[in-house]
Amino acid sequence: MSEAPRRLSYGSYLQVDRLLSCQEPESLKTGAPAHDEMLFIIVHQAYELWFRQILHELDRIQADFAARTVADEHLGRINAGLSRIHEILKLLVGQLDVLETMTPAGFLEFRDLLTPASGFQSVQFRLIEARLGLHDDARIRIDEQSMRERLAPEDRDKLSADTNPSLLSQLDAWLARTPFVALGDYSFRESYRAAVIAALQRDATSISADPALPEPQRQADAAAIEQALARFRALFEPDATTSTWRMSARAIEAALFISLYRDMPVLQLPFRLLQALMDIDESLTLWRLRHALMVERMIGVRPGTGGSSGSGYLKATAEKHRIFIDLFHLSTYLLGPRDLPALPDALRRRMGFSYGAA
Ligand code: HEM
Repeated sequence: MSEAPRRLSYGSYLQVDRLLSCQEPESLKTGAPAHDEMLFIIVHQAYELWFRQILHELDRIQADFAARTVADEHLGRINAGLSRIHEILKLLVGQLDVLETMTPAGFLEFRDLLTPASGFQSVQFRLIEARLGLHDDARIRIDEQSMRERLAPEDRDKLSADTNPSLLSQLDAWLARTPFVALGDYSFRESYRAAVIAALQRDATSISADPALPEPQRQADAAAIEQALARFRALFEPDATTSTWRMSARAIEAALFISLYRDMPVLQLPFRLLQALMDIDESLTLWRLRHALMVERMIGVRPGTGGSSGSGYLKATAEKHRIFIDLFHLSTYLLGPRDLPALPDALRRRMGFSYGAA
């Protein structure tokens, strides 16, 4: 006789019993239960579940991006996946509000029991950073050690098992293949280069002629424009050792083109994609800052259980561990409609939606 098919229930489908057997407060084992440790565990576990979902989204986004030519119909779902990641990250920032209902004194009731465990060892968080494009060399070192050196061997292996290229490098390759940046006699590079340099030089002239500016401010503004000009020029001399761009010159050029002519129909989805990556970078940075502030509130300037300086280290990661920072820097070189070189008609037609008419 064949067995009756198992009837799915809410509990069996979601494995609720297993899930609810995963909270084991350390303080309970010492016989002095700390009430807030349950919250601490559940908040961290909820993070790990969301991290898993982010990695799941990245799996498909990166598989779509891995194609030699990214299919048009896949661009929409890449954008949808990136937006979903952004929404999850916003939720993760908000989740810290719940944890902050725990007082520093409440945390002290069990904090010592956690050593040497630390969020620093979250493999999924490290995978998200690496898959997005944070390179090991760009990371802040602690006590002269790299992030990997500080992980347990089994966690290090889990990280090394992921051989996916980063989303940043995939983005670079995709942008570098952007058509339309040069067509026939038209070269965006040539027409735009002169326009940006002229606009920045105009800014420099108006700063030096502004009588209302105090001298130290004038010098600082002039130096900032000089630096912006040097960064821009480095794009046209890709071998320049002074280049601080992370992406290739071709990719930056294409990202600029897309951002400037974003209203052209064929550029709308690519533009949304660039926006979504900036949203992700921004919300991840907000999480880093918010987490650093919460840590300061909980433990002041004490070092972390993972051996870092604590909130000081975490604040520095918000500045240094940016991933799509080049996209933000591009804004320095955007021009308003008055200065924007017009696109040739033939190119505009190629980038429009035209149905039927030859
Ligand atoms: C009372 C709450 C918390 C405190 C006091 C705290 C403290 C710290 C400290 C001091 C560090 C630096 C590494 C170290 O030396 O240990 C750290 C890193 C980290 N924590 Fe937390 N944390 C808290 C909550 C959370 C939560 C809820 C998460 C969510 C998963 C989390 C995830 C992380 C991650 C991913 C890192 C590594 C950051 C990096 O290296 O860029 N932490 N935490």
